[in-house]
Amino acid sequence: MSEKIKFGSKIGIIAATVGSAVGLGNVWRFPAETQANGGAVFLLIYILCIFILGIPVMTAEFSLGRGGNSDAIGAFRNVTPHRKGWWMAGALAILASYLILSFYMVVSGWTLEYLFQSITGNLYTPTTPAEGIVGIEGEEALFQDRMAQYITGTYRPLVMTYVMLVANLCILALGVQKGIEKMSNVMMPVLFVLLLIFCAFSLTLPKASEGLSFFLKPDFSAVTPATFVNALGQAFFSLSLAMGILVTYSSYYPANTKLTRTAVTVSLLDLMVAILMGVIIFPAVMTFGLADHQLAGSALVFVTLPEIFAQMGGTQFWSTLFFLLLTVAAFTSTISLAEVSVAFMECHFKMKRIKACVVVILPLFVLSSICSLSVGPWSDFTICGKTIFDFLDAVATNIMLPVGGILLCVYMGWVAPRKFFYNEITNNGTLRTRTFGIMAFMIKWISPILIAIILIWQFI
Ligand code: PHE
Repeated sequence: MSEKIKFGSKIGIIAATVGSAVGLGNVWRFPAETQANGGAVFLLIYILCIFILGIPVMTAEFSLGRGGNSDAIGAFRNVTPHRKGWWMAGALAILASYLILSFYMVVSGWTLEYLFQSITGNLYTPTTPAEGIVGIEGEEALFQDRMAQYITGTYRPLVMTYVMLVANLCILALGVQKGIEKMSNVMMPVLFVLLLIFCAFSLTLPKASEGLSFFLKPDFSAVTPATFVNALGQAFFSLSLAMGILVTYSSYYPANTKLTRTAVTVSLLDLMVAILMGVIIFPAVMTFGLADHQLAGSALVFVTLPEIFAQMGGTQFWSTLFFLLLTVAAFTSTISLAEVSVAFMECHFKMKRIKACVVVILPLFVLSSICSLSVGPWSDFTICGKTIFDFLDAVATNIMLPVGGILLCVYMGWVAPRKFFYNEITNNGTLRTRTFGIMAFMIKWISPILIAIILIWQFI
């Protein structure tokens, strides 16, 4: 157990973990949620959720991961060998993360396609369907048509998904330090630099201040109980909680890593990226007169933003930079999702790293293909009224993750020895103990209830 590989540096720890947390949730979910849910009021509620839900649950996962020193299942077994059934909570996390990976990989393929089409300029070369419709409607029709071609087509999305799968395989096969850590150390600074460049540009646009007030104008009338649940759900998803990722990554943290501090740093960096995305998007949307267009989800990044780039000078340049940013954000998230299963194969079946990576990635060629085709040619095939893609998303994200989150809190709050949690948070008593009291209380009494609210809210 003691030879288990560890991350080599503090920066590596933060970069890899932030890389997992920062993903499409920050780009296409948070800004639109904020704007629709009361602006600055939502932001405040969201920050509160990060403190009362995000940081405690993240710290608990880190503790389980580093103390358990194994994969998402082995951690439970190592911490409480005599409590037989708890490995199932880990199994749920592994299964959920694998299912999420199967469709997240497809989305990461879309981002790569847009990057590619930005570089070649094809994204902005007009084609027939939009001709005849002029002005903004024409542009929107054009980019919707492009989106249909790139995303709901048959072959292109498959090819791009496969490219991402191979890229995942290469990085994962290089190992934790040479693959995941090195890649994160390069990609995360690139991501932050790109974000800052975009921010600086957006803030110089003519309607920057109007855009910011559209984004952050406090609107108390928009606040309902649903606002709180949305903020909780956003925090839960954005911080990649209960997916086995944090348990797996923290098993690579060395003994002197300060877990609470790491959780705070990661959460705040994730929050910062989300806010910066809003600062980038809304001034642009206002300046180019698209505030009544689609500002959420895939349509924001694949239709509305290209419309903006098309109107700006340096279209291809800005578009390329933006989709590079998006591809990096998506890629580091897929790596972290895949690592959950790779670690499981290594620890549980004692597989060599390379073999474990192949065993994890190969089935995804089939699973992700099914997800990709279910958005396009197979979209008539539905389960409970949803395409396979949306069905997996709903089951894994909305049900399996919250259930896993509740189990995790119950385990760390009530089942695992208090001393174990204490030792992890205080690094065997060498750090201040005050944080431990707060964390233990939150994990025992507050976090599971908050997650239960997220879960139950969907059914009422
Ligand atoms: N936290 C990521 C985001 O904000 C979502 C994610 C999901 C990341 C699954 C990894 C795995 O988009």
